[in-house]
Amino acid sequence: MSLRDLPKLELHLHLEGAAPPTFIRGLAKEKSIDISGVFREDGSYAFRDFVHFLSVYEAATSVLKTPEDYARLVTAVLEESAAQGVIYAETFVSPDFCGGSDVGAWREYLLAMQEAAARAEARDGIILRGIVTCIRHFGPEKARASALCAAETVGDFITGFGIAGDEGRGALRDFTWSFDLAREAGLRLTAHAGEWGGPQSVRDALDVLRVERIGHGVRAIEDLALVDRLAEDGVVLEVCPGSNVMLGLYPRWDRHPIQRLRERGVKVTVSTDDPPFFHTTMTREYEELARAFGWGAEDFLEISRNALDAAFCDGDTRDKIAEKLKDHPQ
Ligand code: HPA
Ligand code: ZN
Repeated sequence: MSLRDLPKLELHLHLEGAAPPTFIRGLAKEKSIDISGVFREDGSYAFRDFVHFLSVYEAATSVLKTPEDYARLVTAVLEESAAQGVIYAETFVSPDFCGGSDVGAWREYLLAMQEAAARAEARDGIILRGIVTCIRHFGPEKARASALCAAETVGDFITGFGIAGDEGRGALRDFTWSFDLAREAGLRLTAHAGEWGGPQSVRDALDVLRVERIGHGVRAIEDLALVDRLAEDGVVLEVCPGSNVMLGLYPRWDRHPIQRLRERGVKVTVSTDDPPFFHTTMTREYEELARAFGWGAEDFLEISRNALDAAFCDGDTRDKIAEKLKDHPQ
């Protein structure tokens, strides 16, 4: 069994965070923008810790200035995802970076991204959906503008709403207006929690924002009553083990709680978060999980089924993906 060839679903992927460094460098050169501080000498992204990562991320993103740039980004990202065996992906997209939350501009960015995704689907079969994401450290006011953009464009492509950014800033309750609006517009909800925040942040995401999935959520392991609640309620975690290890949340892969969460009944999925930043790919995640916990084809199929059940897509799309999973000889 080649882990690269296994069909994979990825639910937690930041679009700009998936940009290959060569792509960002190329665009910076084309536009004569100096972002030299963004890279190390070996060409990889340079950052010291999570908060520094967020600022490097935003600096790298500053070269993406037009809908056409975003179309090229979607093409580059999906090409790489398809090469890793990904058949379905959901990506976080932020109006803050795409037209500054102006609904008219946002529509243009979205159209360009959707067209690029349709071309990738026609070429490689990979299906992409978008989750509009507000950015916690940009504050609740900007989040409201993002939620309005999301509500205006909910449809075949935009199917979800979420929150990313610095978990250490502000409180989730400051974002309830945005999440209520998104829910009423028919968007599915997820929130980053339980990565830098402890178990209480996961409870807040569930009780205050009323999300159905949690981005990361791994620190729920520090509170077994919460773990049991996640298991009983079928809350799906978008776990990004390589990101957690890279950012120092856990010292080694075999100390990551993904297996303990799973053993206690929590539905986990596997994603890369910001793959080139964290020197990972979906194949590498699978390889490390196989090495650390002895996971094999059956385990990965269970992970894919969890992701399929929790995917923010319509029934027809889900059926199509299910067929692809079934067709593949494990
Ligand atoms: N975590 C939180 N916010 C982010 C990330 C991430 O990995 N990438 C971009 N924004
Ligand atoms: Zn993330």
